[in-house]
Amino acid sequence: MATVLAIETSCDETAVAIVNNRQVCSSIVASQIPVHQQYGGVVPEVASREHLATINEAIAQALEQAQLDWEKIDGIAATCAPGLVGALLVGLTAAKTLAMVHNKPFLGVHHLEGHIYATYLSEPSLNPPFLSLLVSGGHTSLIYVRDCGNYQTLGETRDDAAGEAFDKVARLLKLGYPGGPVIDKLAQAGNPQAFTLPEGKVSLPGGGYHRYDASFSGLKTAVLRLVQQLEKDSEQIPVADVAASFQETVARSLTKRAIACALDYGLDTISVGGGVAANSGLRKNLQAAAAENNLRVLFPALKFCTDNAAMIGCAATDHLSRGHTSPLTLGVESRLGLTQVMKLYQPVE
Ligand code: KG4
Ligand code: ZN
Repeated sequence: MATVLAIETSCDETAVAIVNNRQVCSSIVASQIPVHQQYGGVVPEVASREHLATINEAIAQALEQAQLDWEKIDGIAATCAPGLVGALLVGLTAAKTLAMVHNKPFLGVHHLEGHIYATYLSEPSLNPPFLSLLVSGGHTSLIYVRDCGNYQTLGETRDDAAGEAFDKVARLLKLGYPGGPVIDKLAQAGNPQAFTLPEGKVSLPGGGYHRYDASFSGLKTAVLRLVQQLEKDSEQIPVADVAASFQETVARSLTKRAIACALDYGLDTISVGGGVAANSGLRKNLQAAAAENNLRVLFPALKFCTDNAAMIGCAATDHLSRGHTSPLTLGVESRLGLTQVMKLYQPVE
């Protein structure tokens, strides 16, 4: 059993949490969304500055909320990849400094491994193997989770990530940033069958289609054309119906691929992670299809779908209990595949 203080600053949330294995002792998430909203998306330089201004207070709050002092902390962790380099550096430097000052082990954590671990916070009895559907603003993948640090990518998006598609469609519907939550809310008042949109398939060289890879850029363009056509016909844009039809198409595409993959690989559990795991259309679609196929589908609590430090802490406690620690020379990386996770830790003696 290990207690870890974890920091997450890979994008636009400054987050600090204290986690004891799969139990959250405290979780602070200071969102920068209002700051970036005026620009219509995340501005990397602004994100770094905001992290810097907020991080110390967030650390103090996490300790206070957990009512713990440094003596009770067994290790200090921070997200080190993938993400915005300047933003990652703020959290990583803070974690390394604290580890040095308090003489504690330091761990760098892969952001996507964190998203996989978010499900453990609400389902502590879950253990590998299982299939993870990771759907965030930057990634859309199907991952065979074999063990802590042992991942195989089975499917990916060939272009836009699912969350990115939500954000881009929201922008063209003039709904602001971030698009996912707004579209989700609007879609509840719309008709998902109002418009037929292309699901986006990835062709195989010998003919046919890839069963697990997705593509969302065609869908985004189809929504753009639909809106342009409606505008040309001088019709008022039925925004709720467009949002509902788009959301339904994304949900159907992700569900179909996740179910096919789980069945093909003989995995009976699908765990979903990342911001889009909060989407009500995806939750409904996947739950119904899983039940039909005798599969179990698990989602993190809504607050642990989007970026947070509790999921990073949960992954770090698992690594720490296996003797994995990172050297203080560890740097940040904007891109790093999940198969490279063990590169972050020094060999266990
Ligand atoms: O995991 P996350 O917080 O950050 C990344 O690692 O990227 O995911 C953010 C993404 C954004 O694209 C946001 O629009 C999307 O998740 N998102 C949603 C919902 N809530 C957040 N997409 C669809 N429905 C939602 N309810
Ligand atoms: Zn994320």
